[in-house]
Amino acid sequence: MHGAERHYQSGWGNEFSSEALPGALPQGQNSPQKVPYGLYAELLSGTAFTVPRAEARRTWLYRIRPSAAHPRFCRLERQLNGAELGTVTPNRLRWNPLPLPQGRTDFIDGMQRIAATASADQATGISIYRYVANVSMERVFFNADGELLIVPESGRLSLATEMGVLDIEPLEIAVIPRGVKFRVSLLDDNARGYICENHGVALRLPDLGPIGSNGLANPRDFLTPVAAFEDRSEPTELVQKFLGELWVAQLDHSPLDVVAWHGNNVPYKYDLRRFNTIGTVSYDHPDPSIFTVLTSPSGIPGQANVDFVIFPPRWMVAENTFRPPWFHRNLMNEFMGLIQGAYDAKAEGFLPGGASLHNCMSAHGPDNATTAQAIATELKPHKIDNTMAFMFESCVVLRPTPQALEGEELQADYDSCWAGMSKTFTG
Ligand SMILES: [Fe+2]
Repeated sequence: MHGAERHYQSGWGNEFSSEALPGALPQGQNSPQKVPYGLYAELLSGTAFTVPRAEARRTWLYRIRPSAAHPRFCRLERQLNGAELGTVTPNRLRWNPLPLPQGRTDFIDGMQRIAATASADQATGISIYRYVANVSMERVFFNADGELLIVPESGRLSLATEMGVLDIEPLEIAVIPRGVKFRVSLLDDNARGYICENHGVALRLPDLGPIGSNGLANPRDFLTPVAAFEDRSEPTELVQKFLGELWVAQLDHSPLDVVAWHGNNVPYKYDLRRFNTIGTVSYDHPDPSIFTVLTSPSGIPGQANVDFVIFPPRWMVAENTFRPPWFHRNLMNEFMGLIQGAYDAKAEGFLPGGASLHNCMSAHGPDNATTAQAIATELKPHKIDNTMAFMFESCVVLRPTPQALEGEELQADYDSCWAGMSKTFTG
């Protein structure tokens, strides 16, 4: 060993710490009588105090002003698009991409709820949004109703959070925990993408079972920000979403004023291109759960409140196998989006920025053209490239909003992609 000095890293499991000024983080205790630099200590709990340790998420924040220093919240006149649920339909649904906005639209203005498992004031299960934006937020936002999984389809975003800044681009994702304040700036002229609002227990990596100790999304590829703060005494709007409604308080300072922090209730990002994709090397193919990036468990073992699943570039080598996703009817409810390229089960009609919804027991699978081609083709090793589809899959039925059911983006003829499937029975 070189050098006699010992160097250590502190922490256990996912405990992170960061300070933007040297010595700002109190040592040896969480809430000393005098915090360095005259900061205030504040606890942000993402779970009940008494959950099992493996479930616990909390972060200590050391900030210029405590979050409690705010005046009354007033209900905003402009509410989120799609707070209500639409009429019940068992039908398979597919949507074209949202058009880019015309007037000034920031990330909050541009969020449109497309489907949810419960009405917004229930804040259970999940809610799914698409977003479009053409200006950076000037206000700061937090969501009291759940964590936000942001999936950009076009346009890079800079997320200035209480714990620091995360920049993400299409093919990357970010997760903002419940209650964490953040401001979204655009790094390109426009931005468009998807959001899964998870009202359940926080997303985490799935267990790997017989896969072993490596594979799928690897823990070290998840990135948390380092501490960064704004010391600004300027009027700032702080918007919160509470039981589906937007409320605003006028602050006289920036609420992104955390100088140091430690804990595990933190925003993070992940590059989907780092996903270790696993598939068959013999015949058939595994269930799509093999592509799970993150999962939020429900109360039933193995049945997710939501799984975030991706369909990345990968080699297809299965012998004597119908290689596209099989025809299926599932218990789980599947919302799909497309970030890049084409999805291997659909020849056309499913575009980047588009979406589809296949609820519990709705029969679906590859379209007519894909099916005929998959049966006829001579099987050779083949790489599906330049693609990234994803799925938010929930054990609770997803009900579209009236906006999603009545909007111009809804495709009227989705069923037709399975129409006229020829009878090939030879018996
Ligand atoms: Fe499916």
